[in-house]
Amino acid sequence: MSNSALTNQQFRLAARPVGLPKPSDWSLTSEPVRDIADGEILVQTLYLSLDPAMRGWMNEGKSYIRPVAIGEVMRAGGIGRVAASKSPQFAVGDTVSGSIGVQQYWIGAADDKSAGFYQVDGRMAPLPKYLNALGMPGMTAYFGLLEVGQPKAGETVVVSGAAGAVGQTVGQVAKHKGCRVVGIAGGKAKCDFVVNELGFDACIDYKSGNLKDGLKTQCPDGVDIYFDNVGGEILDTVLTRLRMKARIIICGAISQYNNTTPVQGPANYLSLLVNRARMEGIVVFDYAARYAEGAAQMAQWMQDGSFKSREDIVQGLEKFPDALLMLFEGKNFGKLILQVAPE
Ligand SMILES: NC(=O)c1ccc[n+]([C@@H]2O[C@H](COP(=O)([O-])OP(=O)(O)OC[C@H]3O[C@@H](n4cnc5c(N)ncnc54)[C@H](OP(=O)(O)O)[C@@H]3O)[C@@H](O)[C@H]2O)c1
Repeated sequence: MSNSALTNQQFRLAARPVGLPKPSDWSLTSEPVRDIADGEILVQTLYLSLDPAMRGWMNEGKSYIRPVAIGEVMRAGGIGRVAASKSPQFAVGDTVSGSIGVQQYWIGAADDKSAGFYQVDGRMAPLPKYLNALGMPGMTAYFGLLEVGQPKAGETVVVSGAAGAVGQTVGQVAKHKGCRVVGIAGGKAKCDFVVNELGFDACIDYKSGNLKDGLKTQCPDGVDIYFDNVGGEILDTVLTRLRMKARIIICGAISQYNNTTPVQGPANYLSLLVNRARMEGIVVFDYAARYAEGAAQMAQWMQDGSFKSREDIVQGLEKFPDALLMLFEGKNFGKLILQVAPE
């Protein structure tokens, strides 16, 4: 079969951003889709996961994953449909999840480790769920909370970015473990959602400026576990409310990702000493061998109606640069996904 009639549009990194990414940091390129060779597949992109981590991948320097090179297609996880196959691993029509990149088509060896494609079943759950609770953010929340946080029934768990992809799952897993759950989110609509729809016990709207008072009211005995998605001022404030032997899970620091000044560290860290508390980072990839376990548990909770997840889907590859910024402006309500082609 020849693919020569197809064109692949791609967003490539054109410059390393200073502060918030701007349109000139990207170039939109177009190239014909070549024919596949033996062992290769052609994947048509359906959905792309837009993640705060993408901002870090645009920077030079050492991290848990190599930076995206200038001129390279921007890295992105996604869901696609196999449009052509010369590999026994995947058949035409299979839906797959993997590192597709911000482009309409992916071509390469079916077993390419850097893409890491695996099959997903759209009959078990809607495809976008595989980029949310049943995908990378869900695994981050599940293993970060359970393995690093070690929650016990009756403990108080606080999570920031509560209405976002990771935060939604953290709170609901903590409820399943019998904890009191307090979210922190920007705005009344997000706070109402996590309490009324997801079953959190309370949510503090940090944008209304009363985080410290809110924590005193909602966590009268202090905080046993803080799952930190945002860093900065919010982390510093929660540190003042720790209980003895508290655990702080450092998952992300979105408030700091676009800084043009050094990252703001926690001024109140001596609270760790006073409360014999610990702070520990999590990188989701460390749990890759156990994703199936986490996904099976959350799929079961979804099926019995005790777990929900919300996605915010933006349409069109060309929206990528603007859509990415929604994460840093709090404009996404749920897991942010870019739909590139209809299912
Ligand atoms: N360690 C890992 O392996 C791993 C894996 C996945 C994600 N993460 C991290 O987890 C965090 C959440 O990611 P996500 O995909 O679930 O994103 P998300 O929560 O769905 O979206 C980002 C949210 O962050 C909040 N935010 C943005 N700027 C903020 C600021 N200055 N101060 C406070 N909150 C701010 C906004 O919510 P509000 O409207 O509520 O402010 C925004 O909607 C990120 O830090 C990400 O890097 C880490």
